[in-house]
Amino acid sequence: MRKHPIINASGWDHLCRIEFTGETQMTQIRTVAVVVGSLRKDSASRKLAKAFAALAPANLKFDFVEIGDLPHFDQDLESDPPAQWTAFRDRVRPADAVLFVTPEYNRSVPGVLKNAIDVGSRPYGQSVWNGKPGAVISLSPGAIGGFGANHHLRQSLVFLNVAQFSQEAYIGNAFTLFDETGELVNDGTADFLRGYAAAFAEWIERIAPAAAAQKAA
Ligand code: FNR
Repeated sequence: MRKHPIINASGWDHLCRIEFTGETQMTQIRTVAVVVGSLRKDSASRKLAKAFAALAPANLKFDFVEIGDLPHFDQDLESDPPAQWTAFRDRVRPADAVLFVTPEYNRSVPGVLKNAIDVGSRPYGQSVWNGKPGAVISLSPGAIGGFGANHHLRQSLVFLNVAQFSQEAYIGNAFTLFDETGELVNDGTADFLRGYAAAFAEWIERIAPAAAAQKAA
């Protein structure tokens, strides 16, 4: 396969395993459920997710699905699930795709995000993640860009049969990328996100027929 160089926010060259042609017709509206792995008001992850949505192709519509009020997953509650669990599942289920934007906590996925993954994965056989195209963007104020969280999350998504977008996004030095109003002010990161969003949109189109067939089954 041909090497496809991508520049991320830190300026590293990436090798992408899939070549995107830019030729796919993307006229159909696709909804993307966005799950942010940080709850804090000034979250860089949320700012990045908003910037991503603003830079994405017009056919992608983003639905930010909140996870902060989800009760801890507890199998004993499954027979009479909390209303927040049901509302969360009902928001994610109809989406055409899912985007995770997350920081790294102790080299892994923040607990609140793992809880949301678990809530969405049940009842057994009715996971809302099943078959959806999905992308993972991780970030950190440090240089490694949340690599550990990114790949721990991807491990769960493999098990959950998410059609993972293979292109990598590790956003380092995240606190330097936004102004005091929360706007993205780093042109390199904006270019990277624009390209990533366009390629993700194309990936969604590639997966859409299989995802539709799975939904109908
Ligand atoms: C962190 N942080 C962090 N950063 C990192 O790069 N690797 C790590 O393992 C950790 N671990 C960690 C644990 C805990 C409990 C906290 C609270 C923080 C720092 C983290 O990346 C930073 O707080 C981000 O700003 C969080 O993202 P938001 O909230 O800005 O989106």
